[in-house]
Amino acid sequence: MGAPYVPTKNKLALDILKEVKFKKNGLFVELGSGDGRIVRTAVKTYSVKGLAVDVNGLLIIWSKFLSKLDGTYPRINFVVKNILAVNLIRADYIYLFLFPAIIKKLVPIFDKELRKGTIIISHGFPISEYKKKLIKKVDRNTFPTYYYKI
Ligand SMILES: C[S@@+](CC[C@H](N)C(=O)[O-])C[C@H]1O[C@@H](n2cnc3c(N)ncnc32)[C@H](O)[C@@H]1O
Repeated sequence: MGAPYVPTKNKLALDILKEVKFKKNGLFVELGSGDGRIVRTAVKTYSVKGLAVDVNGLLIIWSKFLSKLDGTYPRINFVVKNILAVNLIRADYIYLFLFPAIIKKLVPIFDKELRKGTIIISHGFPISEYKKKLIKKVDRNTFPTYYYKI
């Protein structure tokens, strides 16, 4: 698939998100959501709504359980699915921590479905096709984070 399960470091979640100006009830989509830590943090901190998508059903069950514990459920919808088959038309914010090969496959989907103004946060790897849409890059000790605006 697009990347193995390597979670974003927990203490980074708030740092990554604080670079974005969120609007209440906007839709935050975590593509390849693992245990959902980024979407759960976004929902808890910025009152957005969430969509968590992962192909690994066990991770979706686990992330849903964690969401019930931290009070973000049912503001997050959890879906077992290939991220290449998700409809992104309603997304306001997208977070991904994936390998370049699957990012490349997502680009035509982004081009087709995303609305103007949608923010994409790509942790770890840039979206090379979107050089002109890059609004910010934050270097860190581990992976950098890239922010794009459609
Ligand atoms: C590097 S982990 C990132 C997890 C989480 N987003 C985070 O930052 O902590 C990548 C996740 O993407 C999922 N994944 C990889 N390819 C996928 C695909 N094609 N469709 C859905 N999920 C996928 C994996 O199961 C894994 O949980």
